Amino acid sequence: MKRIQIINGPNLNLLGKREPGIYGHQSFEDYLKEVRAAFPELEIACFQSNSEGAIIDKLHETGFSADGIVLNAGAYTHTSVAIADAISAITTPVIEVHISNVFSREPFRHHSWLSPVCKGCIVGFGLESYRLALLSFLVP
Ligand code: DQA
Repeated sequence: MKRIQIINGPNLNLLGKREPGIYGHQSFEDYLKEVRAAFPELEIACFQSNSEGAIIDKLHETGFSADGIVLNAGAYTHTSVAIADAISAITTPVIEVHISNVFSREPFRHHSWLSPVCKGCIVGFGLESYRLALLSFLVP
């Protein structure tokens, strides 16, 4: 059984309520139930924080033991060299995900400090971006 850690960054605790035209109407808790049922072969842990340091601590804590990390760093994607350094420091592969298509939004969302140090990026498929990222850990 592969162990996957999902890490959600700032404001993603408000999914379902936050700008539903962009991020949808479903809470992450409800979506997570569906995803856990869809992937019985994965042990999926989930962590959310609005704090950059807490996200870095979780990367350090899980980044040498988990089989994969799915990271939506929210707005820290576009600002955080420290999270990029944490991803470089760990051995577990990290998939960067975004719910919205950041490339069709404001120019400041087009740059990611994280993409160059992640195994891959999945962007713009709504909450299903997470499912696609999880799927990537099941293909050889
Ligand atoms: C986001 C995109 C970011 O630009 C934004 O700051 C978020 C959510 C996404 O999942 O689409 O908080 O990461």
